[in-house]
Amino acid sequence: MLEVEGLVCRYGKVEAVRDLTMRVERGELVTLIGANGAGKTTSLKAISGLLSPAAGRIVFDGQDITRASARRVLELGIAHCPEGRRVFPYMTVRENLEMGCFLRRDADGIAEDMDKLFARFPILHERRDQAAGTLSGGEQQMLAISRALMSRPKLVLFDEPSLGLAPNLVERTFEIIEGIRKDGVTVVMVEQNAFAALELSDRSYVLEQGRVTLTGTGRELLENPHVRQAYLGA
Ligand SMILES: Nc1ncnc2c1ncn2[C@@H]1O[C@H](COP(=O)(O)OP(=O)(O)O)[C@@H](O)[C@H]1O
Ligand SMILES: [Mg+2]
Repeated sequence: MLEVEGLVCRYGKVEAVRDLTMRVERGELVTLIGANGAGKTTSLKAISGLLSPAAGRIVFDGQDITRASARRVLELGIAHCPEGRRVFPYMTVRENLEMGCFLRRDADGIAEDMDKLFARFPILHERRDQAAGTLSGGEQQMLAISRALMSRPKLVLFDEPSLGLAPNLVERTFEIIEGIRKDGVTVVMVEQNAFAALELSDRSYVLEQGRVTLTGTGRELLENPHVRQAYLGA
């Protein structure tokens, strides 16, 4: 479904991603783990069209999206749930959700999806007319996830969804993401919380200084000595 080949991304002279090759099959939950600064966010931005790679190739559903605009990538079915749960703070919860489907024209479908999300997250329904900036961190994360789902994506990219959340909310967030995959949506997730990420993953890629250094199933990497030492503190 998604193929990334030899991806290179630069910020001026800084080579943030040096060589990323990964593939994601339909229905899989694939994670990218790595330390701070490894190039995880940059890789996701390149996939979703927020930045243009210096080299390499990104193919989604048979279409070359290497230099496609963010709008085009969204149209093709990839939604991005960014790092730091960027909700629009001065817009209401409902308006934030509407922003997630600005490319859709099926008013009935949109209303239906909004009802479904409100049923799944009653707290968002309760707060639907409240400015998103007044929500707690956990509620903003639910909103950011819901907003991504409002585009009816085939693939969702999650950037550090657990970052900065209280422990009980971290667990809840991973449950929500697992639920999204169970609903048939393909997931690519970037995480520093390697243990939780690997437990959830079908397959995972370890990114170190912009390069993939290891890949395997979640279980294989949980048992890998290097991963255990470098990422699991074992
Ligand atoms: N806008 C930017 N300008 C310059 N360098 C950047 C920018 N964003 C990220 N970098 C650098 O690129 C590298 C990878 O960053 P990033 O993709 O954010 O890593 P991660 O998400 O794995 O923490 C880091 O060395 C970081 O300092
Ligand atoms: Mg990051």
